[in-house]
Amino acid sequence: MKKVTKAVIPAAGLGTRFLPFTKSIPKEMLPIVDKPTIQYIIEEIVDSGIKDILIINGRNKVVMVNHFDNVPELEFHLKQTGKEEELRIIEDISNMANIFTIRQKEAKGLGHAVLCAKEFVGDEPFAVVLGDDVVYNADKPALRQMLDVYDRFGKSVIGVQQVPRQETDKYGIISKTDVEGNIYKITDMVEKPPVDEAPSNLAVLGRYIITPEIFGILEHTGKGAGGEIQLTDALKELCGNDDVYACDFEGRRYDIGNKEGFLEATVEYGLRRPELSEAFREYLKSLDADSIK
Ligand code: G1P
Repeated sequence: MKKVTKAVIPAAGLGTRFLPFTKSIPKEMLPIVDKPTIQYIIEEIVDSGIKDILIINGRNKVVMVNHFDNVPELEFHLKQTGKEEELRIIEDISNMANIFTIRQKEAKGLGHAVLCAKEFVGDEPFAVVLGDDVVYNADKPALRQMLDVYDRFGKSVIGVQQVPRQETDKYGIISKTDVEGNIYKITDMVEKPPVDEAPSNLAVLGRYIITPEIFGILEHTGKGAGGEIQLTDALKELCGNDDVYACDFEGRRYDIGNKEGFLEATVEYGLRRPELSEAFREYLKSLDADSIK
């Protein structure tokens, strides 16, 4: 069985749900406490054992690649002023992964973005992680949980979790048969179904391990929901040719592309930080939200 050694992060979106911030700054640079969201995504990939990462980006997005590069003048300054801890943090970021990039020149959808990774991936299984979905699990990253399922079955594995029924029209939704515990076999998939037509409330939440057969499928996948080339439609076709598993991964997931989800992440990651936790907790307890005008 081929090992998964590469990951792809589609990050060419225009971030229209987060304007005006995203007018000139990519949404992947939104900070949760003091780290851009793309760093949380890359840390999850690296902690899951993958170091070669392709970022599919668009115009205006070089700043997120710069974040993983060296900054000699900053490093020199931190060294000179004895700021060892800060220096270590900065150096760790540039050393954590091998970052590759490619431009998606037209915004034609997630399926089209993934097809841009074809040459980078070659004939190997690969991971796809979406920048909007940050998942917290201090014991085992969501992607690692999914790689463990891949290592058992050698087939594509899609990360899912239950969502409230009334939100099923925001996601790719699966139908499944049970395999064991939190592992299912996918029988069908549909992108953003109307709530009353959703076959379940198990939603695809931004993490995929996909076998390379997907590229041949994506090459002929037509426009789907929202007039875009959808990865879900290509995966549905893959399900017809091969086994595709789902892993209902454990972890607290935040939808960062959404203002409410972003605020929740900011509060909860803030509470997890030892240096902020106590004072911030006290502040939140003292807050009378209704009195804020
Ligand atoms: C994308 C996928 C969808 C998935 C979602 C997860 O949709 O197309 O299947 O459920 O990410 O966040 P988007 O949110 O980019 O519209």
